[in-house]
Amino acid sequence: MLRNGPFIRREGRSSLKRAPIQFITAEQVFVFQLSYFRGAHREKSPRLCLVRSPVYEALMSTTSTTLTLDTSTSRANPTPTPMKRLTVPRIRQRKGGEPLVMLTAYTVRMAQLLDPHCDLLLVGDSLGQVIYGLPHTVAVTMEMMAAHGAAVVRGSYHAAVIVDMPFGSYEGSPEQAFNNASRLLKETGAAGVKIEGGKVLAPTVEFLTSRGIPVMAHVGLTPQAVNILGGYGVRGKSDEEARSIVEDAVAMAEAGAFAMVIEGVLEPIAIEITQKVACPTIGIGASAQCDGQVLVTEDMLGLFERTPKFVKKYAGMSSFVAAAVEQYAKDVRSRNFPSDEQLYLS
Ligand code: KIV
Repeated sequence: MLRNGPFIRREGRSSLKRAPIQFITAEQVFVFQLSYFRGAHREKSPRLCLVRSPVYEALMSTTSTTLTLDTSTSRANPTPTPMKRLTVPRIRQRKGGEPLVMLTAYTVRMAQLLDPHCDLLLVGDSLGQVIYGLPHTVAVTMEMMAAHGAAVVRGSYHAAVIVDMPFGSYEGSPEQAFNNASRLLKETGAAGVKIEGGKVLAPTVEFLTSRGIPVMAHVGLTPQAVNILGGYGVRGKSDEEARSIVEDAVAMAEAGAFAMVIEGVLEPIAIEITQKVACPTIGIGASAQCDGQVLVTEDMLGLFERTPKFVKKYAGMSSFVAAAVEQYAKDVRSRNFPSDEQLYLS
């Protein structure tokens, strides 16, 4: 809300009235500015004329790149049919209902392609491996998550975007977690953050959610703990470990997590957690009985040679890309590209 609203003069049908100082939102000022330029102030009735205001002067004297037209979307341009983003409360309400569809996204173009079909887009720290070629997620930084998170928000307008908190950004204390989580929300425009871990981090989840930061939990196989776990094997094979994972999930849900990823566990564990916790569970290598599913997009598109057991390959992107690039290389070498079709001949 801009406190120093513009001075507005309203031209009614029969008389000119001076309206009091109005308090209007930045969006309204921006829309008004657009209609002013189009001459709507002269042609439409009832008419609104922006006479003078510090806000107006500021808008006219600078080319603003920070104003957004519609804060419920992340797009710089209005969509033909404005869509509202899914919110965290609406995601939460899907417990036991229509399964939630979540995929990872790290770039604006992929976000644009996935958005119409997904309820949630996860800017996973798996980007460390997928985008940056790192051996694991431990080296992923806040800067990476913030930059990719912002790109995904810019490329979407329907799905709720959740950003992973990288290793080392939240485990130290609830205050550290709050500082970094709030930075991610501010810099990306995402709806919430995801953190890996169990009981030990329940006070942190409580701290964040009670201060306005929605948290998605992540239990079972937690890849950021690879140095403790020694690998990415399925979790919960012993009774003790299975019990501990269920306790982790219950603690995170009771602390206020709005949803929970369950990764790489024996199926009965995922079913038990799904039955026990009040928030939706989202499985990856878990169970079809979870309240939703998530995959790394590049895995399900078949961009890598190796397909882990829990991945269903929906496309063969790596051979598709390889064939296209092979043809391009042949065309360049044989001077078949560019042809007249791609050239500016006159
Ligand atoms: O980082 C990630 O992509 C994830 C998903 C696999 C759940 O955490």
